Amino acid sequence: MKILLAENIIIPGLGRTQGELRARMAKPLLQSIASGIWIAEGSDVSFHGFPYPTRMVIIKLSDGDLWVWSPVELSEVLRAELNCLGPVRHLVSPNKLHHLFLSSWRDCFPRSRLWGPASTIGKRPDLTFERALTDEPPAAWRRDIDQAWFRGSPFLDEIVFFHRESGTAVFGDLVQAFGEEYLRKRWKPWQRRLAQWLGITARSGARAPLDVRLSFIDRRLARQARSKVLNWRPERVIVAHGEWQRHDGASFLARSLSWLG
Ligand SMILES: [Fe+2]
Repeated sequence: MKILLAENIIIPGLGRTQGELRARMAKPLLQSIASGIWIAEGSDVSFHGFPYPTRMVIIKLSDGDLWVWSPVELSEVLRAELNCLGPVRHLVSPNKLHHLFLSSWRDCFPRSRLWGPASTIGKRPDLTFERALTDEPPAAWRRDIDQAWFRGSPFLDEIVFFHRESGTAVFGDLVQAFGEEYLRKRWKPWQRRLAQWLGITARSGARAPLDVRLSFIDRRLARQARSKVLNWRPERVIVAHGEWQRHDGASFLARSLSWLG
C-alpha cells in the first residue's frame, strides 16, 4: 500500500518535513551570490512561442524578512529551501510580464504581500496588491533596496531594483542577455538570427528587445531612471533572462541602456 505523506508535516524523530529533507538531499536551487542575496533558476517559459529561461532573486531584508523578485515556478524543494532562509513576506513583480507564478506563491505563502507597478496590478485584477510601486521604495524595504521606474512606453514599464549591501542591480525585461549556448540548444536558427537583430543576446548588446526600445516614445523619464541606476554604481547586474554580470555592472549597464540616448 502506498503511503502518502504530506510535504509539510514534520516527520517524528527527524524534526523536519519531508520537503525539507528532500531539499537537503537535492542539489540546492538557491545560489548565494553575495551577502544577503540569492538567485534561483526556473524552468523555461514560452513567450509568443519562444523559450525564455527564468531567474528569480531573493533578498534577506534587515528585519529578516525575505523579499522575492519575479518568482519562478514554485517547487517543493524551493519552498523548503526558502523556509530555511526566513519568512517570505514580499512577492515583487517588476513589470506586467512577470506575473505568471504570483498566485501559487501567494497561496503557498499566505502572509506575503504582493507588489508591482500599476501595469502589473491592472493585468492581474484577481490578485490583491499593495499600493503601486513607483520610483520611491516603500518603507518595507527602503533601508535595504532602492528602485528606479523606467517608463515612457505604452507597452512596457518596469521597476528596477538595487540591493545596497551587495551592490546588485536587478533587471527583468529591459536588459536581456541570452547566451550563445542557450540559444543553440533552445532556439531555431531563424530565431537565433532574430534574437541578434532584436539585440537581446549577450553578444549583440544585452538590450531590451528592439520593439520595446522603439515603444519608448517619451524617453525623458527613462533617462532619469537610467541616471539613478548608474549612480548606484552597481557591481553585479542580475537579469531574468540570460547571462548575468558579476563585475563592473555600471559599465555594462551604461552600454546596455545607451539606446535611450
Ligand atoms: Fe521577462
